Amino acid sequence: MTAFDLPESPEHGGRLQAAIQRWGIPREQWLDLSTGINPVPWPVPAIPPEVWQRLPEPDDGLEEIIRSWAGAPERASCLPVAGSQAAIMALPAVRARVHGLGRVAVPVPGYREHGHAWRRAGFEVVAIPEQAIEQDDLTWLDSVDVVVWIQPNNPTGQLMPVAQLLFWRERLQARGGWLIVDEAFLPAYEQLSLAGEAGIHGLVVLKSMGKFFGLAGLRAGAVITDTGIGRVLALELGAWPVSGPAGYLMRNMLQDRVWQIQALSSLVDQSRRLRDVLSVAGLGVSNGTVLFRYMLHSRAIEIRDQLAQAGILVRLFENPLAIRFGLPGSEENWSRLEKTLASLDS
Ligand SMILES: Cc1ncc(COP(=O)(O)O)c(C=O)c1O
Repeated sequence: MTAFDLPESPEHGGRLQAAIQRWGIPREQWLDLSTGINPVPWPVPAIPPEVWQRLPEPDDGLEEIIRSWAGAPERASCLPVAGSQAAIMALPAVRARVHGLGRVAVPVPGYREHGHAWRRAGFEVVAIPEQAIEQDDLTWLDSVDVVVWIQPNNPTGQLMPVAQLLFWRERLQARGGWLIVDEAFLPAYEQLSLAGEAGIHGLVVLKSMGKFFGLAGLRAGAVITDTGIGRVLALELGAWPVSGPAGYLMRNMLQDRVWQIQALSSLVDQSRRLRDVLSVAGLGVSNGTVLFRYMLHSRAIEIRDQLAQAGILVRLFENPLAIRFGLPGSEENWSRLEKTLASLDS
């Protein structure tokens, strides 16, 4: 592979500019449901002038705040990063530096940046076989060096029992392998988080402040892992891995438990409401997380097109054919979505 034939970057939701061009509808008329981001973000406070002026300092307490927010033990390393994406892109180099290249299993369908990052770094990437998970077949697990699991998976919403993930980690680690669990869509205090186990060898947990806190543009996230991986990752990321303003906001939002509890309860209600709205509209059964709903649908392309013609942007998946809907937010947006769904050609 040369620098000129590297794999193309995966597509993402939230590409409103491309939708404006394609469908000829001005920006302000779009209802963008193409990402899975909290439509009611954590209220960003004013940032003191010195936060903009001074370089961020490594011993500013953020690591301890991340630890307590995620429920990670003392032994874990808790690194702030510029979105979990920064860690997704850096981890292949960390692994290659410590253990050389190898094989990596990723969920398919799943957030495609994982496979892309490993492939670009020279690793062989394979899909975690779906039936193998159900049948406890371990051949696939024993043939890879790293497993990436997305908990819950984006876009399918699939969740894996914590005991199963810990078993994978143990089996991989017996050969020096790693388990990376991407918890971008899991609120910190969820039962299904592996952050509480972090610090054991070869477990890497990724957290995002973009989704639950609704601040995707901030580029803030965290990596919770063992001190060995943490040290090499910190070296790989280099000085000032997050900006001063991002670090300042992270320190505040992660400690705002009152907002977090209210936000979670509201998101649970909104996700159920969206499930019901989609089902009443005749689209069928959806899976998902508190931040989005996902449904397989043979007419996914037509539905996406008709919604886009009405200025509603959803995320289409082609293999398998499926659509993902984010939460509408305001009552006005809910009623616009319901009316548009009701008018779809059947
Ligand atoms: C599963 C998953 N992980 C990680 C990310 C990266 O998020 P961020 O870099 O904003 O934390 C995304 C973004 O869509 C995602 O869907």
